[in-house]
Amino acid sequence: IRNSRVLVTGSAGFIGSNLVDALIGDNEVVVVDDLSMGRVENLPQSNNLHFFKHSIADFKFMSELLKDWKFDYIFLLAAVASVADTIVRPAETHIINQDANLNVLETVRINKLDVKKILFSSSAAVYGNNPELPKKETSPIDPLSPYAVDKFATERFVIDYGRLYDIPTVATRFFNVYGPKQNPKSPYSGVLSIVSDALYNAKKFTLYGSGMQTRDFVYIDDVVNALILLMLSDKALNTVFNVATGEQHPLMEVIKDLERVASKKVEILMADSRIGDIQNSVADISKIRDLGYKPQFSLQNGLEKYYQSL
Ligand code: UD1
Repeated sequence: IRNSRVLVTGSAGFIGSNLVDALIGDNEVVVVDDLSMGRVENLPQSNNLHFFKHSIADFKFMSELLKDWKFDYIFLLAAVASVADTIVRPAETHIINQDANLNVLETVRINKLDVKKILFSSSAAVYGNNPELPKKETSPIDPLSPYAVDKFATERFVIDYGRLYDIPTVATRFFNVYGPKQNPKSPYSGVLSIVSDALYNAKKFTLYGSGMQTRDFVYIDDVVNALILLMLSDKALNTVFNVATGEQHPLMEVIKDLERVASKKVEILMADSRIGDIQNSVADISKIRDLGYKPQFSLQNGLEKYYQSL
């Protein structure tokens, strides 16, 4: 993406801030984040960056922003990303995870804004506990939390706005993304940020379950490349894509790999599986592969780069 006006919501968070780093050299980037989870230090310093500390749930603000700036590309990454939080506050988080995104779509539709594409970030959470592996975009969905329900419904809105109103859109289902700037502070942060933090700061790590559970861990740089590819590809239109590696790794093995990278051992406290945890997860990524996507980071290389960034 070059010489464009780009909006990134949720830009101070983990995925958003890494995306902004990739865009900022060649584009004018407007970022909106209420800093409820993101950190302003995650954002680069640049004359091309325009930061608004605002909630996307401020509908009027967002509508005015969209009309004023006439964006070429819009990345909708802002969300209450903690599944647990959405279970405690389903109605409140729904406003952010769904209504605020619908407000963006409505503003574009009603004002006939000429956007090249809108990308919405959804989650592998939409597949829920469906045991079919690997998960294909056509696999049965089973959203088991307000978080997953909102992600799935908003995906469908985004796709429908594409089909019904001719607004180019695309949606992504992220699997387990890891890498620099992922905040390890919450127990619901990505597990690898928590393990890395425990290793780096010599803290104990609580392992929920046997460690045999598997995940498809994808390095942030590969995710950023996928986001840009999906934005630019004409074939990625009004549909949804898994963003992952297609490889399945048992959590315990990944912890051992990280220990080797750190040349340290982490003290592990064993605990019962978390309620609602899924056992195994891996994506079929042939749909995005067909667009030319290829993950560049093996788990080993990704873990090394991540640990060095701490
Ligand atoms: C991830 C997403 C979640 C989404 C789900 C859908 C993150 C942070 N979460 O959850 O939003 O709904 O995919 O597929 O990306 N674990 C520990 N100790 C810890 C933390 C986690 O043992 O301190 C374990 C968990 O119990 C789980 C595994 O590590 O078995 C991965 O956990 P987590 O990183 O939270 O990701 P998912 O559960 O896959």
